[in-house]
Amino acid sequence: MKKITKAVFPVAGLGSRFLPATKAQPKEMLPIVDKPLIQYAVEEAVAAGITDMIFITGRNKRAIEDHFDTAYELESELEAAGKDELLNFVRNVIPKHVNCIYIRQSAPLGLGHAVLCARPVVGDEPFAVLLADDFMDTAEGQKPVLAQMTDVYGYEKCSVLAVQDVPRANTRQYGIVSATAYRPDLELVSGIVEKPQPEAAPSTLAVVGRYVLSPRIFDYLADIGAGAGGEIQLTDGIAALMASERVLAYRYAGQRYDCGSKLGYLQATTAMGLKHPETAAGFRAFLEQTHKELAAK
Ligand code: UTP
Repeated sequence: MKKITKAVFPVAGLGSRFLPATKAQPKEMLPIVDKPLIQYAVEEAVAAGITDMIFITGRNKRAIEDHFDTAYELESELEAAGKDELLNFVRNVIPKHVNCIYIRQSAPLGLGHAVLCARPVVGDEPFAVLLADDFMDTAEGQKPVLAQMTDVYGYEKCSVLAVQDVPRANTRQYGIVSATAYRPDLELVSGIVEKPQPEAAPSTLAVVGRYVLSPRIFDYLADIGAGAGGEIQLTDGIAALMASERVLAYRYAGQRYDCGSKLGYLQATTAMGLKHPETAAGFRAFLEQTHKELAAK
């Protein structure tokens, strides 16, 4: 198996849980402090050695394309105003050696269908999938989550799914795996089911938005029909892939925030606001004050 150089970012979903903010822009453009979610995900991919970023876009694609493109007017205005630091931010949204490729998903037929749209560009190579609304925060000195997973791929040479334990009541929001212990932090997946009811879930181990996948998944995604919710599900493609190849579940090190939900988005903003050099001190003071006021009520 080859080195992973390609990452797929499905950004064509409707983002209905975040309306009306997502009426005219993809949810992946929502900012956490000062960077959109999609930029954090691209930075995570760059840190894992990925050089080709493949965005599967939908009806509101422009904001993402513009974000990773040159902004001539803005750059010349910042230059003329001598705002060098801001100019630097705008110019270095993405490193020069990285390619951005955009593919349009004609209709939101599901995450599995979105991934299948990348097939002509990915070809016969293993690849990563990142769902940017699953925001992954790692501690200082810790490897970003996708880099942890490409390391696992490097020595296991098979598909790797990021997983975490979730409360049983929440299983209907996730793909849930059945798995057997394999190595520390790694389990061998024996089954996977999309959005099971809590009483029917085979475990509470949920797949979250980071995957390293074998290209054979495309053959299966092309064949499976609509599954849960009437959508072509990536989960069903993985279930079919497991019949011919090993799939591992990896308990990543890091904190995930579900930024497709309002609460998860607020939590991520709080966590990052406390880390950002420009906001950390002031935001901490604000939170401490808020905490005191809440405690007094
Ligand atoms: P979600 O399940 O979060 O759906 O998709 P959604 O439509 O984006 O959001 P809600 O539930 O309506 O609020 C998981 C990921 O798959 C992408 C989404 O953009 C998101 O990153 N996706 C989903 C597609 O690219 N195409 C699809 O047809 C469906």
